[in-house]
Amino acid sequence: MTAPVQTPQPFPTRIFSGIQPSGGLTLGNYLGALKRFVEKQDEGIETIYCLVDMHAITVWQDPVKLRQQTREAAAAFLAAGIDPARSILFNQSQVTAHVELGWIFNCVARMGWMGRMTQWKDKAGKNAEAASLGLFAYPALMAADILAYKATHVPVGEDQKQHLELTRDIAIKFNNDYGVTFFPLTEPVIEGAATRVMSLRDGSKKMSKSDPSDQSRINLTDDADTIAAKIRKARTDPDPLPDSLAGLKDRPEARNLVNIYAALAGHTPEQVVADFAGAQFGTFKPALADLAVAKLAPITAEMNRLMQDPAEIDRILGEGAARAEAIARPILDQVYDIVGMIRSRRG
Ligand code: TYM
Repeated sequence: MTAPVQTPQPFPTRIFSGIQPSGGLTLGNYLGALKRFVEKQDEGIETIYCLVDMHAITVWQDPVKLRQQTREAAAAFLAAGIDPARSILFNQSQVTAHVELGWIFNCVARMGWMGRMTQWKDKAGKNAEAASLGLFAYPALMAADILAYKATHVPVGEDQKQHLELTRDIAIKFNNDYGVTFFPLTEPVIEGAATRVMSLRDGSKKMSKSDPSDQSRINLTDDADTIAAKIRKARTDPDPLPDSLAGLKDRPEARNLVNIYAALAGHTPEQVVADFAGAQFGTFKPALADLAVAKLAPITAEMNRLMQDPAEIDRILGEGAARAEAIARPILDQVYDIVGMIRSRRG
């Protein structure tokens, strides 16, 4: 084995990120990921976004619903402002480089690393014996998603931080084992006021598409009345809003609503508490509901419009997949060469 060869990084800036089409997208997905994906695209950076259907099936997915949810997630990306002319948008299973590199990374990653992943522990729960092997290997496939494009930056919510650290560990081990500077050490990009949007029913739990309570989340498909009702019923405490962020310490539900307001308005949480200092939730919640409806209703309407034409969505995903493949395939060819595979088949 040769000495570590890591810095400086000779890799051009390229953004990759993904979302699982394992249910409808939530306000957490929108603020923590989708909205920021659009911002990155609009900054003119090369952006590749993927609906990770292969990750989705690490837990059971009804085939009819999976196809529907994948189209719906694609519609959400487009409705939120992803422009297929400027970003690459596709579903993972159409670009086989992901699973090919995923297998190689299964052979690089160590069992111990995977066993320490909190998502694995949470999702497998007490009955790890019954969990799928794919769920255990999930983070290696995620590393492959990113590194099949040598992506340098990955915008994600807080909950994906550990998976991004593992991606770096895999890149480092691959580079060291084979004595190459082949993969970049990808940076997570976790920024903004809403990197961890919490449940509307419990400020200690993440807002999630898999929460059994629909009241716990805002779905991108919710209509205006539903959004307003969910915010009105959101759990809070009896105190008015403080005049500084320090006053929200130990008030997780209040802090969450302030963060959501800030992210939707494009303000900082500091500005929001300054604007609403002393206000009761009876005043703040309707203001938040109005803001949420104003920002989300046009996206929902556009999603509904796009969903009328599934063939057009499939066409966009297919075109994105072809462009993604054109980037990933030459990288995979080099990986096979580095690893020592014979590639003599023609045609
Ligand atoms: P997923 O599908 O759970 O979530 C997609 C994105 O949404 C963010 N997110 C949140 N952000 C703030 N608050 C929340 N309550 C919230 N819930 C979800 C997530 O952090 C994520 O950025 N493993 C990934 C999918 C994936 C991926 C990748 C991501 C597969 N390959 C490669 C980046 C790069 C996941 O399950 O995300």
